[in-house]
Formats: sequence, C-alpha cells, structure tokens
Amino acid sequence: MLRKVILLALLPTVFGLYFHIAETERKCFIEEIPDETMVIGNYKVQLYDPNTKGYGDYPNIGMHVEVKDPEEKVILSKLYTSEGRFTFTSHTPGEHLICLYSNSSAWFSGAQLRVHLDIQVGEHAQDYEQVAQKDKLNELQLRIRQLLDQMALRRLVDGLKSPWSLAFSGFGAAYGIYYIIDTTQAGTKYEPDFDLKGKTYIVTGATSGIGQATVEELARRNARVIMACRNREKCIQVRRDIVLSTRNKQIFCRQCDLSDFDSIRSFVAKLSQGKFELDRIDGVVNNAATMDDKRKLSKSGIEQMLMTNHMGSFLMTGLLLEKLFKQENPVKIVFLNTNIINRKCDIDFDDLNNDKKEKFDGYEVYKQTKLAQAMFAKELSEKVKDSNVSVILTDPGRTKTSLSNKLNAQDFFLSRWLLKPISFIMGQRRPEKAVKPILYALADPEADGLNGVFIDRERQLQDLGEIVEDKEKREKLWSISLAWTRFHEHLNQLKKEVSGDEGSVEDKPTETKAGGRWYYLWLA
Ligand SMILES: NC(=O)c1ccc[n+]([C@@H]2O[C@H](COP(=O)([O-])OP(=O)(O)OC[C@H]3O[C@@H](n4cnc5c(N)ncnc54)[C@H](OP(=O)(O)O)[C@@H]3O)[C@@H](O)[C@H]2O)c1
Repeated sequence: MLRKVILLALLPTVFGLYFHIAETERKCFIEEIPDETMVIGNYKVQLYDPNTKGYGDYPNIGMHVEVKDPEEKVILSKLYTSEGRFTFTSHTPGEHLICLYSNSSAWFSGAQLRVHLDIQVGEHAQDYEQVAQKDKLNELQLRIRQLLDQMALRRLVDGLKSPWSLAFSGFGAAYGIYYIIDTTQAGTKYEPDFDLKGKTYIVTGATSGIGQATVEELARRNARVIMACRNREKCIQVRRDIVLSTRNKQIFCRQCDLSDFDSIRSFVAKLSQGKFELDRIDGVVNNAATMDDKRKLSKSGIEQMLMTNHMGSFLMTGLLLEKLFKQENPVKIVFLNTNIINRKCDIDFDDLNNDKKEKFDGYEVYKQTKLAQAMFAKELSEKVKDSNVSVILTDPGRTKTSLSNKLNAQDFFLSRWLLKPISFIMGQRRPEKAVKPILYALADPEADGLNGVFIDRERQLQDLGEIVEDKEKREKLWSISLAWTRFHEHLNQLKKEVSGDEGSVEDKPTETKAGGRWYYLWLA
C-alpha cells in the first residue's frame, strides 16, 4: 500500500514502507545517484508464521545489503542483523545497483519475508501518492524516488556550505519572511467596488505617502479630486502619474500651503469663484502633516508643526464650511490622525507654541499637534451634528512614508537602515493599504451616519482618549485656534473676495440645513 507523504518545512522525518521477498530472493534496483551523497536506511526483517498467519520477529534472520557503484565497484557489502541501519556514500555519480537479500534460507526453508525499509528524510514537499500515480511507480520504485529526493536535498544542504550559497539562501529566507509579514499585515481584505462618478473630494498634502495613495484610490473609482498641495510642480508630476495609471483626467492640482493662512484663504476662495468654482464637494481629507526635529516658525509666528497639522486644517475647514452647509448632498470631513495621541500625551496650554521648553522634541511636538487636531475634529463633529456634514477621524496605522524623514534618528545612515526593519516588524504598511480606512470613512455607505468617531486601520472604532473627550479642554483649544488663525479676519476677507461683500459676516449669517446659522455655530 502506498503511503501518502506530504512533508512541510525543515523537519527531519522518517518515511517507511515494506516489501515481501522469498527466502532466497535477491531484490535489486538500479538508480541514478549523484556523487558524494550519503544514503541512510533503517530496516527490519520479519518472517511469515503460518500458524499465526502473520509476520513475527526472528532475531536470527540476517539481511545482506550490497551496493555497487556505476563502475561495478562494490561500495557496500555487509550482513546485518534482522534489524538495524545501513549507510553508504556515493563517490561516483551515476547508476548504483542496490541489492537486498536475507540469509533466512539457512534457517527457515521456503518461508516468506517482509522487509520494512525506513529512510530518514529531511526537507521535502512532495505528495508521493500523486507522484506514484503519475509516474506509475510500484512501492519499491517509489521508495527509491523518495530516497533520491532526500539525496538531492542533502547535496543542496552540502552546497549551502559555500559562502555564496549561504548569502543567497540568507537573502532568500529574509525575503520569504518579509513576504509573509507583509502579507499578514495586509489586514482584513477590503476592496469596495463603489463607483464615485459625479462626486468631488479634496485631499490636502496629496503629493506623497497616504495623501497620494488616497487620490489614486478615489481616481480609480471615477471621482473628481482636488489635490491641495503646497508644491505645485510636484503636484503636477504626481497628478500626471495618477492620471496615467487610472485614466481619470478629473484630477486637479490647486496650490494650498497649510502653513500659510493667506494661501489657505486663497485656495478656498478659488473653489468658490471663477472657473475653478466647484459645484459640489462630497468630502474633505485633512491629510497634510509634517514632522521635524527642529523648531521652525511659519510666516505667522506659529510653530510649523502646530501650524500645518492643526491650525491650517482648522482655518481651511472653517472657511469651507459655509459652502458645505449650503449643499444638498452629505459631506464627509475626514481627519488623518494616529493612536499615539493616547500615549502619554497632553496639550500644554502654557506653551502651545513650544517656545519655552529647554529642549525641542520633534516627535513629542508632533504628537501634541495631532492631539490638537483630534480635539478640533471631535469638537467640530459636535457642532455639525444636526447638519449635512459629518466628521470622522481615521488612523491609517504605521505606514511607510517620508513623514519621519526629518527626525534626527534618521540622520545617520545606519540608524536609517536599522529603523526600516524594526518599523516593518512593528507593523508598518504600504500607503496603498493605509488608505483603506480613509476610503471607508469617505465613501462606504456602511460609514454613513458615523460622526465624531475614530476608526482604526482595520475600520474598527477605537477610543479617542480622555483628553479628546474633555469638552473644557476642547473649547479652550477652539478659542485659541480662532484667535491664532485670525479666523474672523480671514472669513471677512474671503467673503469680500468671493462675493464682493463688504462688512462683517456677522451681519449676513448663512442658514444651515438644520436651521442653525453656520457662522454662529462655528463660533459658539
Ligand atoms: N505614516 C504614518 O505612519 C502615519 C501614521 C498615522 C497617521 N499618519 C498621518 O497620515 C497623514 C499623511 O502622512 P504621510 O505618512 O503620508 O506623510 P508624508 O508622506 O510625509 O506626506 C505628507 C504630505 O503633507 C504635505 N505637506 C507637508 N507640509 C505641508 C504644508 N505646509 N502644506 C501642504 N501640504 C503639506 C507633504 O507635501 P510635500 O510633498 O510638499 O512635502 C506631503 O504631501 C498625516 O496626517 C499623518 O499624521 C501617518
């Protein structure tokens, strides 16, 4: 009977089969064996007992093993006991004659013998039942095939002793591990097939990383996308690549530097007037962010990370809101945030601009600015809850982008190289994967009705943390943000630029769908 042998990975295993021979019969087989290959066989001989009609152990039986190499030279000829192990090593490649016979006739004339033959086999991944069927092998031939596969493997292992093959094997193994981790980190499969034709989305910071991948996903689903970027040339290049890969020409570059209030206002003004005026907006992705180890100031004197990661999106969202409230369609405002805001992080209201601290810690400041953004998003979600606008925070998870490139830890090339595998093992993913929760929040019907929630990379709800839930702190940050962004000034200026309205917006508040006055709603 053939035995099904499916062995996986690098575990030494024992194969076994048996065959019958008559008392004086000599069973031989010829097989091609590579040179310098060691063969190990474990065997046991049993004798048929007509009384019990079964095979039993008889220690006196001997088993003779003889092996001849391709030049007919006997390389093994030995009489073994009824149970044991034989080994030989081939020194010449080619056909070897392997013969087995017993000395039983000397003791039990006319009897039949059963020979169990077990070969220790290492790595293999063959389904020998299939092999036997395909190649029409009998038991003994199959046993030999397994034997030879084992030998080939041994040769491979021997070959691995050379430094080059060791290096290549190391590389292969490392790549295999990389592939397995990369695949498992893909998370739950999410490939929604919704068509976004006729919908318009704004994505800030769309020239690289997750922002770029978000535009690509939206473009692939036929949406119209406005890429709000600080670097126009870079935007044009990225846009060209996206248009070529998705064949969607409805992708547009618009200049918007989130560290510059005038640039933000001018961006919103253009969306609301002239040939760039948008008929509708279905979603805004507040994605742009920066991380730096050096304290830099924006034009307005606000520290660069606080400005880009929070104040800029505060002003842009506030200036866009009137237009969004006037629309019939629902609008999703999505913020890209991170769960690190829940790790020993608080807002330092006494030093929000980080100019009093002895040492500027770029990573800590980044955390605080993302916390500020989350507090703003949560407060906004409460203010807009009865309108056509909803707010969702998403965490794309640790993602392989250029975000942390400016941190000191990356200065030295060795630490850069060391950080890569560490980040990878800790779950860093590619931007194409990180974009899934954003897509879900923006366009999946399942996310309709969600407001003020934080979605993780597997699209599950996660806690916002106690600081974000602290209403008092949120309101305090809100009024500071209004003052620091000079929100009223920019709003009045925007009104003037778009509709030529002079005077303050307080005189002409716009009604929201729910009947509230958006301007007061923003300020309340
Ligand atoms: N990567 C992660 O592991 C991770 C984890 C959690 C959350 N996030 C969040 O995901 C978002 C995207 O980050 P990413 O990892 O994709 O980073 P990234 O590759 O560095 O992309 C940041 C984008 O923001 C733009 N940007 C920077 N400063 C800007 C400014 N003043 N005005 C306009 N655009 C500006 C950059 O433009 P340039 O091309 O001109 O530099 C770039 O397009 C961020 O909000 C980040 O906090 C990232």
